[in-house]
Amino acid sequence: MSWTPSSWRKFPIKQQPTYQDQELLQSVEKKLNLFPPIIFADEARRLKEKLARAGRGEAFLLQGGDCAESFSDFNAANIKNLLKLMLQMNMVLMYSTGKPVVKVGRIAGQFAKPRSSDFEEVDGVKLPSYRGDIINGIEFTEEARIPNPYNMIKAYNQSAATLNLLRAFSRGGLADLNRVHQWNLDFIKDNPLGKRYDELSNKIDQSMKFMAACGLNSDTLPQLHQTTMYTSHEALLLNYEEAMTRQDSETGKWYDCSAHMLWIGDRTRDLNEAHIEYFKGIDNPIGCKVGPSMGEDELIELIEALNPENEEGRLTLIVRMGASIISEKYPPLLQKVKDAGKNVVWTIDPMHGNVEKSSSGFKTRNFDNILSEVEQFFAIHKEMGTVAAGIHLEMTGNDVTECTGSTSSPITDESLASRYHTQCDPRLNASQALELSFMISETITEG
Ligand code: PEP
Ligand code: CO
Repeated sequence: MSWTPSSWRKFPIKQQPTYQDQELLQSVEKKLNLFPPIIFADEARRLKEKLARAGRGEAFLLQGGDCAESFSDFNAANIKNLLKLMLQMNMVLMYSTGKPVVKVGRIAGQFAKPRSSDFEEVDGVKLPSYRGDIINGIEFTEEARIPNPYNMIKAYNQSAATLNLLRAFSRGGLADLNRVHQWNLDFIKDNPLGKRYDELSNKIDQSMKFMAACGLNSDTLPQLHQTTMYTSHEALLLNYEEAMTRQDSETGKWYDCSAHMLWIGDRTRDLNEAHIEYFKGIDNPIGCKVGPSMGEDELIELIEALNPENEEGRLTLIVRMGASIISEKYPPLLQKVKDAGKNVVWTIDPMHGNVEKSSSGFKTRNFDNILSEVEQFFAIHKEMGTVAAGIHLEMTGNDVTECTGSTSSPITDESLASRYHTQCDPRLNASQALELSFMISETITEG
């Protein structure tokens, strides 16, 4: 009833920084509130319609990108490589399912990180944890770890520039279906997976030639020439999200204009706390992580709080249980939501329940566990007669060594050190992500 963009401030809240300079914080918030929105409300509405289709099984949601974006890794190549990877995965999934793929990047705003501990200790020195570049610095020094309000301005600028380039690539020709071969990334091209992708591209080429002969080409059909990549992030730092919240002049509704889609993390989804309050009032399509501690009744209450009108496409539930427990934890939740007749877009995040420590000391994830959780998710939905609508991944278009396993990119515990670049959690590299999409497409077509 009494919702405003700032009403979350009256509720308990987790995972927030303590800013020392409140005056500076307020001046940054004021400034951000006057900056142009990064996205336009109509785009968020269009994404909601597409997600509604995914929820009905008429489209497939592919959401992915960095665990955390950083100020230091901000360059055109990283953005372009992620988009190319998304386009490749899009092709693989679209070709096998015959359904459109809704592409949503964890990009252009994915800067704030929940942490398992408020402090980090190295060699007897204890400092506040790194909480993402929008809050403080990753360097292990006292100075870097002080939350700096000005980082919000930097994050805003980087998000705007990132989305600008994504729009240019998506509309300016890179996404043209006549260029499917060019999306193959250099370091994949010559491995068996790259070849497999090339074979698929050849088939698409043939279809394009056939269509061109019928008079249908990129000039006559813009769908062949361009694509849409939506943006999303975890709306964790509510000072930033509040400042980016705008009332749409057409409908009078409130939108968080920092991204098309926002989600609530597994650690901040408490029903009586600030994040739920904030999300209740924004009209964007939203997501919420569903981890092992979620109760059945709690889930129904959460759905009713976030989507009281049972609107299709409004709420995506991102399941992240872990390969070893999903078969026990997930079916009762799914059954309960099905019985209650709630419209939900179910998607699987096979990353956050499958974190382990390698013998070489790195935080990693094993490809077999990732794949297994995805397969179990699809099998559970098949068994229940419900729609498995999509996948949510931490991945990069670069050739990193952060997750172990997979046949295309056999990374061992020992080789993790060679290109371990992530700012936070280990990501699938481009080969692993592409391999996973081929496997998902097989699972879907067999199903
Ligand atoms: C994330 O998606 O980066 C994340 C922190 O996930 P979760 O909230 O599911 O732990
Ligand atoms: Co993560």
